[in-house]
Amino acid sequence: MRFDVVTLFPELFGPFLSTGMMGRAVASGALTVRLRSPREFGIGRHRSVDDTPYGGGSGMVMRVDCLVDCLESLDADAPEGVRAHRVLMTPQGAPFRQATAIALSTRPAVSLICGRYEGFDDRVRAFVEEEVSLGDFVLTGGEVAAMAVVDACVRLLPGVLGNAESATHESHSPALGGQLEYPQYTRPVEFRGARVPDVLQNGNHAHIEAWRRAEAERRTAERRPDLVLPRNEPR
Ligand code: ADE
Repeated sequence: MRFDVVTLFPELFGPFLSTGMMGRAVASGALTVRLRSPREFGIGRHRSVDDTPYGGGSGMVMRVDCLVDCLESLDADAPEGVRAHRVLMTPQGAPFRQATAIALSTRPAVSLICGRYEGFDDRVRAFVEEEVSLGDFVLTGGEVAAMAVVDACVRLLPGVLGNAESATHESHSPALGGQLEYPQYTRPVEFRGARVPDVLQNGNHAHIEAWRRAEAERRTAERRPDLVLPRNEPR
């Protein structure tokens, strides 16, 4: 899978893309990332990419022409001619969820457009397929949100996670009905008076399975009542 990232700060992505699972995904060829700055398409001697807002007000607004030129240049030299599905990173977008990651990870190429300054010229919205927000808070730019999207998608690609780390039975996964995961334990069996539940130690897999299902439901209802669905309804 390919990600094209439009960012004024491509250097932020260096260690992220060369470390741990992202580094392995790049090395194996499962993940390709192209970083391109709209500054390359900036205006005038200073290569400006932002300007003051029409109608007045504080702050600067990112220009639409530099962003669209950057997107079109990425399309023009796209490997195998595969044009990316364009996603604008903005606090006004749809909340990013596991279902969003699953959907994006099936696409051959996705471009993530990161803003800085106070926001985008609204006309850029006509040039993207969707808008995604990392959550109901405002970041200084879309880069951290873009890294979260790349990370969540890449670990779903075939062959990136080993079998032992499979992404099929984890919090928010369809296999768990979008619920939170059950509690996990490892050695020592007792730590400062807190013991591993007996049911996990007796090797009865039917009991373990039932306990885990009940714990996942209890935990989800307690912590995230918004995730609890009427029985058997797919998310
Ligand atoms: N840019 C600034 N804030 C953001 C957010 N919450 N999600 C995505 N991109 C952003």
